[in-house]
Amino acid sequence: MTHVTSSETHSFETIVKPPLEKWAIPPNMANYDAMCDDFSWKQIENQLKLPRTNGVNQASVCIDGHPPEVMKRNALIWIRKDSTTGQFKDETYTFEDLKRETNRFANVLVQAGIEKGDRVFTFLERIPENYISIFGALKTGAVVGPLFSAFGPEAIKDRLQDSQARLVVTSPALKPRLDSIRGDLPHLEKVIVVDRDNTQTDSLQAHELDYAAAMAEASDTFEVVHTDPDDYSIMHYTSGTTGKPKGVVLCHGALVSQSATAQYVLDLKPDRDIYWCSADPGWVTGTSYGMFGPWSLGATQIVYEGGFKAEDWYRLMQDYKVTVWYTAPTAIRMLMKSGEALVEQYDLSSLRHLCSVGEPLNPEAIIWGQDVFGKIFHDTWWQTETGCMHICNYPCLDVKPGSMGKPVPGITAGILDEDWNPVPVGEEGHLALRPNAPSVLKTYWHRDEVYQSKFKNGWYITGDRAKVDDEGYFWFIGRDDDVINTAGHLVGPFEVESALIEHPAVAEAAVIGKPDKERMEIIKAFVSLKTGFTESDELIQEIRTFVRHRLAAHAYPREIAVLPDLPKTRSGKIMRRLLKARELGLPEGDTSTLEE
Ligand code: PRX
Repeated sequence: MTHVTSSETHSFETIVKPPLEKWAIPPNMANYDAMCDDFSWKQIENQLKLPRTNGVNQASVCIDGHPPEVMKRNALIWIRKDSTTGQFKDETYTFEDLKRETNRFANVLVQAGIEKGDRVFTFLERIPENYISIFGALKTGAVVGPLFSAFGPEAIKDRLQDSQARLVVTSPALKPRLDSIRGDLPHLEKVIVVDRDNTQTDSLQAHELDYAAAMAEASDTFEVVHTDPDDYSIMHYTSGTTGKPKGVVLCHGALVSQSATAQYVLDLKPDRDIYWCSADPGWVTGTSYGMFGPWSLGATQIVYEGGFKAEDWYRLMQDYKVTVWYTAPTAIRMLMKSGEALVEQYDLSSLRHLCSVGEPLNPEAIIWGQDVFGKIFHDTWWQTETGCMHICNYPCLDVKPGSMGKPVPGITAGILDEDWNPVPVGEEGHLALRPNAPSVLKTYWHRDEVYQSKFKNGWYITGDRAKVDDEGYFWFIGRDDDVINTAGHLVGPFEVESALIEHPAVAEAAVIGKPDKERMEIIKAFVSLKTGFTESDELIQEIRTFVRHRLAAHAYPREIAVLPDLPKTRSGKIMRRLLKARELGLPEGDTSTLEE
Protein backbone atom coordinates (compact mmCIF):
# COMPACT_ATOMS: atom_id res chain seq x y z
CA MET A 1 0.00 0.00 0.00
CA THR A 2 1.25 3.49 -0.77
CA HIS A 3 0.21 6.83 0.60
CA VAL A 4 -0.89 9.57 -1.79
CA THR A 5 -2.43 12.96 -1.26
CA SER A 6 -6.17 12.89 -0.75
CA SER A 7 -8.43 14.92 -3.02
CA GLU A 8 -10.17 15.97 0.18
CA THR A 9 -8.86 18.54 2.59
CA HIS A 10 -8.37 15.99 5.36
CA SER A 11 -5.02 15.93 7.04
CA PHE A 12 -4.36 12.22 6.52
CA GLU A 13 -3.44 10.86 3.15
CA THR A 14 -5.58 8.34 1.35
CA ILE A 15 -4.25 4.82 1.61
CA VAL A 16 -4.29 3.38 -1.88
CA LYS A 17 -4.83 -0.36 -2.25
CA PRO A 18 -2.57 -2.32 -4.56
CA PRO A 19 -3.97 -3.50 -7.91
CA LEU A 20 -5.70 -6.88 -7.80
CA GLU A 21 -2.91 -8.82 -9.50
CA LYS A 22 -0.58 -7.91 -6.60
CA TRP A 23 -2.77 -9.59 -3.98
CA ALA A 24 -1.50 -12.94 -2.65
CA ILE A 25 -5.07 -13.76 -1.64
CA PRO A 26 -7.51 -11.68 -3.72
CA PRO A 27 -10.39 -10.05 -1.81
CA ASN A 28 -13.87 -11.61 -2.05
CA MET A 29 -15.17 -8.33 -3.47
CA ALA A 30 -12.82 -7.35 -6.28
CA ASN A 31 -14.46 -4.12 -7.39
CA TYR A 32 -16.69 -2.02 -5.15
CA ASP A 33 -18.29 0.10 -7.89
CA ALA A 34 -19.04 -2.90 -10.09
CA MET A 35 -20.68 -4.67 -7.19
CA CYS A 36 -22.82 -1.61 -6.39
CA ASP A 37 -23.94 -1.27 -10.02
CA ASP A 38 -24.98 -4.85 -10.34
CA PHE A 39 -26.60 -5.48 -7.01
CA SER A 40 -29.72 -7.23 -5.76
CA TRP A 41 -30.31 -8.88 -2.41
CA LYS A 42 -31.96 -11.82 -4.17
CA GLN A 43 -28.85 -12.36 -6.26
CA ILE A 44 -26.67 -12.25 -3.14
CA GLU A 45 -28.94 -14.72 -1.43
CA ASN A 46 -28.61 -17.16 -4.33
CA GLN A 47 -24.88 -16.58 -4.64
CA LEU A 48 -24.32 -17.26 -0.95
CA LYS A 49 -26.11 -20.57 -1.44
CA LEU A 50 -27.67 -20.33 2.00
CA PRO A 51 -29.30 -23.69 2.51
CA ARG A 52 -33.07 -23.30 2.61
CA THR A 53 -33.94 -25.80 5.29
CA ASN A 54 -36.77 -24.94 7.64
CA GLY A 55 -37.52 -21.61 6.00
CA VAL A 56 -34.52 -19.52 6.95
CA ASN A 57 -34.06 -20.52 10.56
CA GLN A 58 -30.81 -18.73 11.39
CA ALA A 59 -29.57 -21.51 13.65
CA SER A 60 -30.33 -24.23 11.17
CA VAL A 61 -28.63 -22.42 8.29
CA CYS A 62 -25.53 -21.50 10.32
CA ILE A 63 -25.02 -24.76 12.14
CA ASP A 64 -26.74 -27.64 10.34
CA GLY A 65 -26.84 -26.62 6.73
CA HIS A 66 -23.22 -27.05 5.59
CA PRO A 67 -21.88 -29.72 3.24
CA PRO A 68 -20.37 -32.79 5.00
CA GLU A 69 -16.74 -31.62 4.72
CA VAL A 70 -17.63 -28.31 6.39
CA MET A 71 -19.62 -30.05 9.13
CA LYS A 72 -16.31 -31.68 10.19
CA ARG A 73 -14.56 -28.30 10.42
CA ASN A 74 -14.07 -26.52 13.74
CA ALA A 75 -16.80 -23.94 14.15
CA LEU A 76 -15.74 -22.81 17.62
CA ILE A 77 -12.39 -22.86 19.35
CA TRP A 78 -13.10 -21.76 22.89
CA ILE A 79 -10.13 -20.51 24.85
CA ARG A 80 -9.73 -19.77 28.53
CA LYS A 81 -6.67 -18.86 30.55
CA ASP A 82 -5.68 -21.26 33.31
CA SER A 83 -5.70 -19.18 36.47
CA THR A 84 -2.71 -20.95 38.00
CA THR A 85 -0.38 -21.57 35.05
CA GLY A 86 -1.49 -18.60 32.91
CA GLN A 87 -1.50 -20.97 29.92
CA PHE A 88 -4.32 -21.01 27.39
CA LYS A 89 -6.53 -24.08 27.33
CA ASP A 90 -9.02 -24.72 24.58
CA GLU A 91 -12.07 -26.75 23.74
CA THR A 92 -13.07 -27.25 20.12
CA TYR A 93 -16.50 -27.81 18.59
CA THR A 94 -17.03 -28.80 14.97
CA PHE A 95 -20.22 -27.78 13.18
CA GLU A 96 -21.31 -31.40 13.66
CA ASP A 97 -20.72 -31.09 17.45
CA LEU A 98 -22.67 -27.84 17.60
CA LYS A 99 -25.50 -29.40 15.61
CA ARG A 100 -25.87 -32.16 18.20
CA GLU A 101 -25.50 -29.86 21.20
CA THR A 102 -27.94 -27.25 19.91
CA ASN A 103 -30.45 -29.99 19.05
CA ARG A 104 -30.15 -31.27 22.60
CA PHE A 105 -30.67 -27.83 24.02
CA ALA A 106 -33.68 -27.21 21.78
CA ASN A 107 -35.19 -30.43 23.17
CA VAL A 108 -34.48 -29.25 26.73
CA LEU A 109 -36.33 -26.01 26.01
CA VAL A 110 -39.32 -27.72 24.41
CA GLN A 111 -39.47 -30.04 27.42
CA ALA A 112 -39.49 -26.92 29.62
CA GLY A 113 -42.53 -25.65 27.68
CA ILE A 114 -40.87 -23.12 25.38
CA GLU A 115 -42.78 -22.40 22.17
CA LYS A 116 -42.17 -20.34 19.06
CA GLY A 117 -42.19 -16.62 19.89
CA ASP A 118 -41.39 -17.05 23.61
CA ARG A 119 -38.54 -14.95 24.90
CA VAL A 120 -35.52 -16.89 26.13
CA PHE A 121 -32.55 -14.98 27.54
CA THR A 122 -28.99 -16.01 28.26
CA PHE A 123 -27.11 -14.38 31.09
CA LEU A 124 -23.79 -16.18 30.80
CA GLU A 125 -20.09 -15.61 30.48
CA ARG A 126 -18.36 -16.09 27.12
CA ILE A 127 -18.53 -19.89 27.33
CA PRO A 128 -19.60 -22.49 24.73
CA GLU A 129 -22.92 -23.05 26.54
CA ASN A 130 -23.88 -19.45 25.78
CA TYR A 131 -23.51 -20.12 22.05
CA ILE A 132 -25.23 -23.51 22.32
CA SER A 133 -28.14 -22.00 24.27
CA ILE A 134 -28.62 -19.18 21.79
CA PHE A 135 -28.63 -21.45 18.74
CA GLY A 136 -30.67 -24.15 20.50
CA ALA A 137 -33.28 -21.56 21.43
CA LEU A 138 -33.38 -20.20 17.87
CA LYS A 139 -34.09 -23.73 16.64
CA THR A 140 -37.28 -23.75 18.76
CA GLY A 141 -38.40 -20.46 17.16
CA ALA A 142 -37.91 -18.60 20.45
CA VAL A 143 -36.86 -14.95 20.40
CA VAL A 144 -33.45 -14.89 22.04
CA GLY A 145 -31.96 -12.11 24.17
CA PRO A 146 -28.28 -12.48 25.08
CA LEU A 147 -27.46 -10.38 28.15
CA PHE A 148 -24.00 -8.95 28.79
CA SER A 149 -22.50 -10.81 31.75
CA ALA A 150 -21.34 -7.56 33.37
CA PHE A 151 -24.92 -6.33 33.81
CA GLY A 152 -26.08 -5.65 37.36
CA PRO A 153 -29.55 -6.46 38.74
CA GLU A 154 -31.21 -3.23 37.59
CA ALA A 155 -30.05 -3.65 33.98
CA ILE A 156 -31.19 -7.30 33.91
CA LYS A 157 -34.53 -6.44 35.49
CA ASP A 158 -35.30 -3.74 32.88
CA ARG A 159 -34.68 -6.18 30.05
CA LEU A 160 -36.36 -9.28 31.46
CA GLN A 161 -39.41 -7.33 32.62
CA ASP A 162 -39.86 -5.51 29.33
CA SER A 163 -39.49 -8.64 27.20
CA GLN A 164 -41.52 -10.79 29.61
CA ALA A 165 -38.89 -13.50 29.30
CA ARG A 166 -40.09 -16.99 30.28
CA LEU A 167 -36.71 -18.64 30.66
CA VAL A 168 -33.16 -17.54 31.46
CA VAL A 169 -29.97 -19.57 31.12
CA THR A 170 -27.35 -18.46 33.62
CA SER A 171 -24.37 -19.63 35.69
CA PRO A 172 -23.77 -20.02 39.45
CA ALA A 173 -21.56 -16.91 39.45
CA LEU A 174 -24.22 -14.71 37.82
CA LYS A 175 -27.37 -16.24 39.29
CA PRO A 176 -27.32 -14.23 42.55
CA ARG A 177 -27.97 -11.07 40.50
CA LEU A 178 -30.98 -12.74 38.92
CA ASP A 179 -32.17 -14.14 42.26
CA SER A 180 -32.11 -10.66 43.77
CA ILE A 181 -34.78 -9.42 41.33
CA ARG A 182 -36.78 -12.61 40.78
CA GLY A 183 -39.71 -11.24 42.76
CA ASP A 184 -40.09 -8.52 40.10
CA LEU A 185 -40.24 -10.97 37.21
CA PRO A 186 -43.69 -12.61 37.21
CA HIS A 187 -43.20 -14.00 33.68
CA LEU A 188 -39.97 -15.81 34.44
CA GLU A 189 -40.88 -19.48 34.87
CA LYS A 190 -37.64 -21.40 34.50
CA VAL A 191 -33.95 -20.86 35.03
CA ILE A 192 -31.35 -23.21 33.58
CA VAL A 193 -28.02 -23.21 35.42
CA VAL A 194 -24.81 -23.96 33.55
CA ASP A 195 -22.52 -25.23 36.25
CA ARG A 196 -19.23 -25.96 34.45
CA ASP A 197 -17.34 -26.44 37.71
CA ASN A 198 -20.06 -28.40 39.55
CA THR A 199 -20.49 -25.96 42.35
CA GLN A 200 -24.25 -25.70 42.77
CA THR A 201 -26.16 -28.67 41.44
CA ASP A 202 -27.59 -29.82 44.75
CA SER A 203 -28.82 -26.38 45.76
CA LEU A 204 -31.19 -25.85 42.83
CA GLN A 205 -34.67 -24.52 43.54
CA ALA A 206 -37.92 -25.93 42.13
CA HIS A 207 -37.96 -23.68 39.06
CA GLU A 208 -34.30 -24.32 38.26
CA LEU A 209 -32.79 -26.96 35.98
CA ASP A 210 -29.23 -28.17 35.82
CA TYR A 211 -27.94 -27.68 32.26
CA ALA A 212 -25.66 -30.74 32.19
CA ALA A 213 -28.27 -33.09 33.65
CA ALA A 214 -30.98 -31.89 31.28
CA MET A 215 -28.64 -32.11 28.28
CA ALA A 216 -27.57 -35.66 29.21
CA GLU A 217 -31.17 -36.81 28.99
CA ALA A 218 -32.09 -34.92 25.82
CA SER A 219 -32.06 -36.40 22.32
CA ASP A 220 -29.51 -35.00 19.87
CA THR A 221 -32.00 -34.91 17.03
CA PHE A 222 -34.52 -32.11 16.71
CA GLU A 223 -37.02 -31.01 14.08
CA VAL A 224 -36.08 -27.34 13.71
CA VAL A 225 -39.12 -25.05 13.97
CA HIS A 226 -39.97 -23.41 10.66
CA THR A 227 -39.28 -19.69 10.71
CA ASP A 228 -39.97 -17.23 7.91
CA PRO A 229 -37.48 -14.46 7.08
CA ASP A 230 -39.55 -11.86 8.96
CA ASP A 231 -39.96 -13.98 12.09
CA TYR A 232 -38.23 -12.51 15.13
CA SER A 233 -34.91 -14.05 16.15
CA ILE A 234 -32.60 -11.91 18.29
CA MET A 235 -33.28 -9.07 20.72
CA HIS A 236 -30.65 -6.65 21.97
CA TYR A 237 -31.56 -3.75 24.20
CA THR A 238 -30.23 -0.37 23.22
CA SER A 239 -30.26 2.96 24.99
CA GLY A 240 -32.00 6.14 23.90
CA THR A 241 -32.02 9.66 25.31
CA THR A 242 -35.20 9.15 27.28
CA GLY A 243 -36.77 6.16 28.96
CA LYS A 244 -35.41 2.72 29.66
CA PRO A 245 -33.48 0.73 27.02
CA LYS A 246 -35.56 -0.49 24.07
CA GLY A 247 -35.54 -4.04 22.72
CA VAL A 248 -34.33 -3.99 19.12
CA VAL A 249 -35.92 -6.96 17.39
CA LEU A 250 -34.00 -8.55 14.50
CA CYS A 251 -35.31 -11.33 12.26
CA HIS A 252 -34.14 -14.66 10.81
CA GLY A 253 -33.90 -13.14 7.30
CA ALA A 254 -31.16 -10.81 8.65
CA LEU A 255 -28.78 -13.62 7.86
CA VAL A 256 -28.64 -12.67 4.17
CA SER A 257 -26.97 -9.32 4.79
CA GLN A 258 -24.99 -10.57 7.80
CA SER A 259 -23.59 -13.32 5.61
CA ALA A 260 -22.93 -11.01 2.64
CA THR A 261 -21.03 -8.53 4.80
CA ALA A 262 -19.04 -11.29 6.52
CA GLN A 263 -18.01 -12.29 3.02
CA TYR A 264 -17.37 -8.86 1.46
CA VAL A 265 -16.33 -6.70 4.42
CA LEU A 266 -14.70 -9.18 6.81
CA ASP A 267 -13.48 -10.91 3.64
CA LEU A 268 -13.73 -14.34 5.30
CA LYS A 269 -12.37 -17.32 3.42
CA PRO A 270 -13.86 -20.16 5.43
CA ASP A 271 -11.49 -22.88 4.28
CA ARG A 272 -8.38 -21.05 5.49
CA ASP A 273 -9.27 -18.34 8.00
CA ILE A 274 -9.18 -18.31 11.78
CA TYR A 275 -11.44 -15.45 12.69
CA TRP A 276 -11.66 -13.57 15.98
CA CYS A 277 -14.44 -11.17 16.90
CA SER A 278 -13.56 -9.74 20.28
CA ALA A 279 -17.13 -8.55 21.04
CA ASP A 280 -19.25 -10.17 23.75
CA PRO A 281 -22.41 -12.07 22.67
CA GLY A 282 -24.37 -9.57 24.80
CA TRP A 283 -23.85 -6.93 22.08
CA VAL A 284 -25.00 -7.00 18.49
CA THR A 285 -21.47 -7.33 17.11
CA GLY A 286 -21.11 -10.49 19.18
CA THR A 287 -24.17 -12.06 17.54
CA SER A 288 -24.20 -10.68 13.98
CA TYR A 289 -20.42 -11.19 13.54
CA GLY A 290 -19.50 -13.40 16.50
CA MET A 291 -22.04 -16.00 15.36
CA PHE A 292 -24.30 -15.52 12.34
CA GLY A 293 -22.16 -13.97 9.59
CA PRO A 294 -19.07 -16.17 10.00
CA TRP A 295 -20.92 -19.42 10.75
CA SER A 296 -23.30 -18.95 7.81
CA LEU A 297 -20.14 -19.16 5.67
CA GLY A 298 -18.76 -22.16 7.58
CA ALA A 299 -15.82 -20.20 9.04
CA THR A 300 -13.83 -21.21 12.12
CA GLN A 301 -13.80 -18.71 14.93
CA ILE A 302 -12.09 -18.42 18.26
CA VAL A 303 -13.88 -17.20 21.36
CA TYR A 304 -11.76 -15.96 24.24
CA GLU A 305 -13.35 -16.11 27.66
CA GLY A 306 -11.05 -13.54 29.23
CA GLY A 307 -11.21 -9.78 29.12
CA PHE A 308 -8.81 -7.24 27.68
CA LYS A 309 -5.12 -7.53 28.47
CA ALA A 310 -2.67 -6.54 25.77
CA GLU A 311 -0.24 -9.43 26.42
CA ASP A 312 -3.06 -11.99 26.38
CA TRP A 313 -4.60 -10.67 23.20
CA TYR A 314 -1.30 -10.70 21.32
CA ARG A 315 -0.43 -14.19 22.60
CA LEU A 316 -3.89 -15.44 21.70
CA MET A 317 -3.61 -14.18 18.13
CA GLN A 318 -0.10 -15.58 17.81
CA ASP A 319 -0.86 -19.01 19.29
CA TYR A 320 -4.10 -19.54 17.39
CA LYS A 321 -2.81 -17.94 14.18
CA VAL A 322 -5.71 -15.55 13.84
CA THR A 323 -6.07 -14.28 10.29
CA VAL A 324 -9.12 -11.98 10.42
CA TRP A 325 -9.74 -9.81 13.47
CA TYR A 326 -12.80 -7.68 14.22
CA THR A 327 -12.36 -5.39 17.22
CA ALA A 328 -13.13 -1.92 18.59
CA PRO A 329 -11.35 1.46 18.69
CA THR A 330 -11.06 1.55 22.50
CA ALA A 331 -9.26 -1.81 22.44
CA ILE A 332 -6.98 -0.58 19.65
CA ARG A 333 -6.18 2.59 21.61
CA MET A 334 -5.41 0.48 24.69
CA LEU A 335 -3.09 -1.71 22.62
CA MET A 336 -1.41 1.41 21.27
CA LYS A 337 -0.89 2.58 24.83
CA SER A 338 0.76 -0.70 25.80
CA GLY A 339 3.60 0.20 23.44
CA GLU A 340 5.38 -1.19 20.43
CA ALA A 341 8.03 -3.04 22.44
CA LEU A 342 5.29 -5.38 23.65
CA VAL A 343 3.76 -6.14 20.28
CA GLU A 344 7.21 -6.82 18.83
CA GLN A 345 7.56 -9.83 21.17
CA TYR A 346 4.84 -11.71 19.27
CA ASP A 347 4.65 -13.27 15.85
CA LEU A 348 1.46 -11.83 14.41
CA SER A 349 2.30 -12.53 10.80
CA SER A 350 -0.84 -14.67 10.38
CA LEU A 351 -3.02 -11.53 10.50
CA ARG A 352 -4.46 -10.82 7.06
CA HIS A 353 -7.39 -8.43 7.54
CA LEU A 354 -8.32 -6.11 10.42
CA CYS A 355 -11.68 -4.42 11.05
CA SER A 356 -13.12 -2.16 13.73
CA VAL A 357 -16.56 -1.03 14.89
CA GLY A 358 -18.42 0.84 17.58
CA GLU A 359 -16.86 4.29 17.72
CA PRO A 360 -15.00 6.59 15.37
CA LEU A 361 -11.65 5.05 14.50
CA ASN A 362 -8.91 7.63 14.80
CA PRO A 363 -6.66 7.98 11.75
CA GLU A 364 -3.70 7.47 14.11
CA ALA A 365 -5.02 4.01 15.00
CA ILE A 366 -5.27 3.06 11.33
CA ILE A 367 -1.71 4.13 10.69
CA TRP A 368 -0.53 2.37 13.87
CA GLY A 369 -2.00 -0.89 12.54
CA GLN A 370 0.03 -0.38 9.38
CA ASP A 371 3.21 0.17 11.41
CA VAL A 372 2.93 -2.74 13.85
CA PHE A 373 0.97 -5.40 11.92
CA GLY A 374 1.71 -4.28 8.37
CA LYS A 375 -2.09 -4.09 7.96
CA ILE A 376 -4.47 -1.21 8.40
CA PHE A 377 -7.70 -1.33 10.41
CA HIS A 378 -10.83 -1.06 8.29
CA ASP A 379 -13.54 0.93 10.04
CA THR A 380 -17.15 -0.28 9.80
CA TRP A 381 -20.19 1.71 10.87
CA TRP A 382 -23.52 0.21 11.88
CA GLN A 383 -25.95 -0.03 14.78
CA THR A 384 -27.92 -2.60 16.74
CA GLU A 385 -30.92 -1.41 14.71
CA THR A 386 -29.29 -2.05 11.33
CA GLY A 387 -28.42 -5.65 12.26
CA CYS A 388 -25.45 -5.69 9.87
CA MET A 389 -22.63 -3.42 8.72
CA HIS A 390 -23.90 -0.51 6.64
CA ILE A 391 -21.05 1.92 5.91
CA CYS A 392 -17.63 0.35 5.65
CA ASN A 393 -14.11 0.25 4.37
CA TYR A 394 -13.33 -2.72 2.15
CA PRO A 395 -10.18 -4.65 1.29
CA CYS A 396 -10.49 -3.57 -2.36
CA LEU A 397 -11.24 0.11 -1.74
CA ASP A 398 -8.81 2.93 -0.93
CA VAL A 399 -9.12 4.08 2.67
CA LYS A 400 -9.37 7.69 3.74
CA PRO A 401 -8.23 7.54 7.38
CA GLY A 402 -10.96 8.96 9.63
CA SER A 403 -13.78 8.14 7.21
CA MET A 404 -16.32 5.39 7.90
CA GLY A 405 -16.05 4.43 4.24
CA LYS A 406 -18.85 3.87 1.75
CA PRO A 407 -22.26 2.19 2.01
CA VAL A 408 -22.29 -1.58 1.65
CA PRO A 409 -23.42 -2.50 -1.90
CA GLY A 410 -27.22 -2.66 -1.85
CA ILE A 411 -27.47 0.00 0.86
CA THR A 412 -28.31 3.65 0.28
CA ALA A 413 -27.14 6.14 2.87
CA GLY A 414 -27.92 9.85 2.86
CA ILE A 415 -27.30 13.03 4.80
CA LEU A 416 -30.53 14.92 5.53
CA ASP A 417 -31.48 18.39 6.69
CA GLU A 418 -34.00 19.26 9.41
CA ASP A 419 -36.90 18.62 6.99
CA TRP A 420 -35.50 15.18 6.11
CA ASN A 421 -34.33 16.16 2.62
CA PRO A 422 -30.80 15.45 1.32
CA VAL A 423 -28.24 18.21 1.91
CA PRO A 424 -25.59 19.19 -0.69
CA VAL A 425 -22.35 17.17 -0.76
CA GLY A 426 -19.96 18.20 1.99
CA GLU A 427 -22.63 19.57 4.33
CA GLU A 428 -23.26 18.12 7.73
CA GLY A 429 -26.67 16.62 8.61
CA HIS A 430 -28.62 13.60 9.91
CA LEU A 431 -27.19 10.28 8.81
CA ALA A 432 -30.07 8.29 7.29
CA LEU A 433 -30.48 4.99 5.47
CA ARG A 434 -33.00 3.56 3.08
CA PRO A 435 -34.20 0.67 5.22
CA ASN A 436 -33.82 -1.99 2.56
CA ALA A 437 -31.22 -4.36 4.00
CA PRO A 438 -32.84 -7.62 5.19
CA SER A 439 -31.31 -7.18 8.65
CA VAL A 440 -32.84 -3.81 9.58
CA LEU A 441 -34.83 -4.03 12.81
CA LYS A 442 -38.44 -5.24 12.66
CA THR A 443 -39.54 -3.16 15.64
CA TYR A 444 -38.67 -2.11 19.16
CA TRP A 445 -40.31 -4.67 21.43
CA HIS A 446 -43.76 -3.35 22.38
CA ARG A 447 -42.73 0.20 21.37
CA ASP A 448 -43.96 0.36 17.85
CA GLU A 449 -44.61 4.11 18.07
CA VAL A 450 -40.92 4.73 18.81
CA TYR A 451 -40.01 2.44 15.92
CA GLN A 452 -42.33 4.35 13.55
CA SER A 453 -40.90 7.66 14.71
CA LYS A 454 -37.48 6.66 13.33
CA PHE A 455 -38.72 6.78 9.73
CA LYS A 456 -39.01 10.06 7.80
CA ASN A 457 -39.60 10.47 4.06
CA GLY A 458 -38.79 6.79 3.50
CA TRP A 459 -35.48 7.06 5.37
CA TYR A 460 -34.51 5.38 8.62
CA ILE A 461 -32.96 8.10 10.81
CA THR A 462 -29.91 6.73 12.61
CA GLY A 463 -29.51 9.37 15.32
CA ASP A 464 -25.95 10.13 14.16
CA ARG A 465 -24.68 13.21 12.37
CA ALA A 466 -22.31 12.86 9.45
CA LYS A 467 -21.29 14.27 6.07
CA VAL A 468 -20.36 12.76 2.74
CA ASP A 469 -17.55 13.95 0.46
CA ASP A 470 -17.48 14.29 -3.32
CA GLU A 471 -16.08 10.77 -3.69
CA GLY A 472 -18.91 9.22 -1.69
CA TYR A 473 -16.97 8.62 1.54
CA PHE A 474 -18.93 9.18 4.77
CA TRP A 475 -17.45 11.02 7.74
CA PHE A 476 -18.89 10.58 11.24
CA ILE A 477 -19.49 13.79 13.19
CA GLY A 478 -21.25 12.74 16.37
CA ARG A 479 -24.48 11.58 17.96
CA ASP A 480 -27.53 13.69 17.38
CA ASP A 481 -28.89 12.98 20.85
CA ASP A 482 -27.64 12.76 24.42
CA VAL A 483 -26.76 9.06 24.22
CA ILE A 484 -23.23 8.45 25.50
CA ASN A 485 -20.75 6.22 23.67
CA THR A 486 -18.26 5.00 26.23
CA ALA A 487 -15.69 2.51 24.93
CA GLY A 488 -18.15 1.46 22.23
CA HIS A 489 -21.06 0.90 24.62
CA LEU A 490 -24.08 3.13 24.21
CA VAL A 491 -25.42 4.31 27.54
CA GLY A 492 -28.62 6.30 27.93
CA PRO A 493 -28.33 9.20 30.39
CA PHE A 494 -31.79 8.41 31.74
CA GLU A 495 -30.76 4.92 32.91
CA VAL A 496 -27.81 6.31 34.84
CA GLU A 497 -29.84 9.21 36.23
CA SER A 498 -32.54 6.77 37.41
CA ALA A 499 -29.95 4.66 39.20
CA LEU A 500 -28.34 7.77 40.73
CA ILE A 501 -31.53 9.11 42.25
CA GLU A 502 -32.20 5.77 43.89
CA HIS A 503 -29.23 6.51 46.13
CA PRO A 504 -30.53 7.94 49.43
CA ALA A 505 -28.28 11.01 49.24
CA VAL A 506 -29.14 12.07 45.69
CA ALA A 507 -31.96 14.56 45.09
CA GLU A 508 -31.49 15.21 41.36
CA ALA A 509 -29.13 13.94 38.71
CA ALA A 510 -28.10 14.77 35.16
CA VAL A 511 -25.62 12.79 33.13
CA ILE A 512 -23.50 13.75 30.13
CA GLY A 513 -20.78 12.19 27.97
CA LYS A 514 -17.44 13.91 28.54
CA PRO A 515 -14.84 13.47 25.78
CA ASP A 516 -12.03 11.10 26.73
CA LYS A 517 -8.86 10.20 24.84
CA GLU A 518 -9.08 6.46 25.41
CA ARG A 519 -12.77 5.63 25.80
CA MET A 520 -14.17 8.26 23.42
CA GLU A 521 -16.47 9.46 26.22
CA ILE A 522 -16.77 8.88 29.94
CA ILE A 523 -19.96 9.30 31.91
CA LYS A 524 -20.03 12.44 34.02
CA ALA A 525 -22.85 13.00 36.50
CA PHE A 526 -24.02 16.22 38.10
CA VAL A 527 -26.03 15.68 41.26
CA SER A 528 -27.65 17.77 43.92
CA LEU A 529 -27.83 16.28 47.40
CA LYS A 530 -30.81 15.85 49.71
CA THR A 531 -30.88 17.99 52.82
CA GLY A 532 -28.82 16.46 55.57
CA PHE A 533 -26.10 15.11 53.24
CA THR A 534 -22.77 16.84 52.67
CA GLU A 535 -20.36 16.31 49.83
CA SER A 536 -17.32 14.17 50.63
CA ASP A 537 -14.94 11.90 48.71
CA GLU A 538 -16.42 8.90 50.52
CA LEU A 539 -19.96 9.82 49.52
CA ILE A 540 -18.97 10.33 45.88
CA GLN A 541 -17.20 6.97 45.84
CA GLU A 542 -20.22 5.31 47.45
CA ILE A 543 -22.59 6.76 44.82
CA ARG A 544 -20.27 5.63 42.03
CA THR A 545 -20.14 2.06 43.37
CA PHE A 546 -23.89 2.07 43.92
CA VAL A 547 -24.56 2.75 40.23
CA ARG A 548 -21.83 0.40 39.07
CA HIS A 549 -23.37 -2.51 40.97
CA ARG A 550 -26.91 -1.78 39.82
CA LEU A 551 -26.20 -1.20 36.12
CA ALA A 552 -22.82 -2.38 34.85
CA ALA A 553 -19.13 -1.65 35.04
CA HIS A 554 -19.27 0.37 31.81
CA ALA A 555 -22.38 2.35 32.81
CA TYR A 556 -21.38 4.17 35.98
CA PRO A 557 -20.25 7.80 36.25
CA ARG A 558 -16.47 7.97 36.50
CA GLU A 559 -16.83 11.63 37.46
CA ILE A 560 -19.46 13.10 39.77
CA ALA A 561 -19.84 16.81 40.47
CA VAL A 562 -22.10 18.06 43.24
CA LEU A 563 -24.06 21.25 42.48
CA PRO A 564 -26.46 23.09 44.78
CA ASP A 565 -29.13 22.89 42.04
CA LEU A 566 -29.26 21.60 38.50
CA PRO A 567 -30.23 24.00 35.68
CA LYS A 568 -33.82 23.35 34.55
CA THR A 569 -36.25 24.64 31.99
CA ARG A 570 -39.34 26.46 33.25
CA SER A 571 -41.23 23.21 32.81
CA GLY A 572 -38.79 21.49 35.18
CA LYS A 573 -36.69 19.51 32.67
CA ILE A 574 -33.02 19.28 33.58
CA MET A 575 -30.90 20.89 30.86
CA ARG A 576 -28.22 18.31 30.15
CA ARG A 577 -27.00 20.21 27.11
CA LEU A 578 -26.33 23.30 29.18
CA LEU A 579 -24.35 21.28 31.70
CA LYS A 580 -22.37 19.76 28.87
CA ALA A 581 -21.69 23.14 27.26
CA ARG A 582 -20.49 24.50 30.60
CA GLU A 583 -18.32 21.44 31.22
CA LEU A 584 -16.68 21.72 27.82
CA GLY A 585 -16.45 25.50 27.83
CA LEU A 586 -18.71 25.78 24.77
CA PRO A 587 -21.33 28.46 24.04
CA GLU A 588 -24.42 27.83 26.15
CA GLY A 589 -26.83 28.29 23.22
CA ASP A 590 -30.43 29.26 23.75
CA THR A 591 -31.10 29.57 27.47
CA SER A 592 -34.39 31.42 27.12
CA THR A 593 -36.32 28.52 28.63
CA LEU A 594 -34.00 28.36 31.64
CA GLU A 595 -35.77 28.51 34.99
CA GLU A 596 -35.24 31.86 36.74
O1 PRX B 1 -23.06 6.45 17.10
C1 PRX B 1 -22.70 5.36 16.29
C2 PRX B 1 -21.65 4.50 17.00
O2 PRX B 1 -22.37 3.53 17.72
C3 PRX B 1 -23.77 3.65 17.45
C4 PRX B 1 -24.40 2.28 17.41
O3 PRX B 1 -24.20 1.65 18.63
P1 PRX B 1 -24.79 0.20 18.89
O4 PRX B 1 -26.22 0.16 18.50
O5 PRX B 1 -24.42 -0.15 20.29
O6 PRX B 1 -24.00 -0.74 17.89
C5 PRX B 1 -22.61 -0.78 17.97
C6 PRX B 1 -22.03 -1.86 17.09
C7 PRX B 1 -22.63 -2.05 15.78
C8 PRX B 1 -23.86 4.39 16.15
O7 PRX B 1 -25.12 5.02 15.99
N1 PRX B 1 -20.80 3.83 16.00
C9 PRX B 1 -20.81 2.54 15.61
N2 PRX B 1 -19.83 2.30 14.71
C10 PRX B 1 -19.21 3.49 14.50
C11 PRX B 1 -19.82 4.46 15.32
N3 PRX B 1 -19.44 5.75 15.33
C12 PRX B 1 -18.43 6.09 14.51
N4 PRX B 1 -17.78 5.21 13.71
C13 PRX B 1 -18.13 3.90 13.67
N5 PRX B 1 -17.49 3.05 12.89
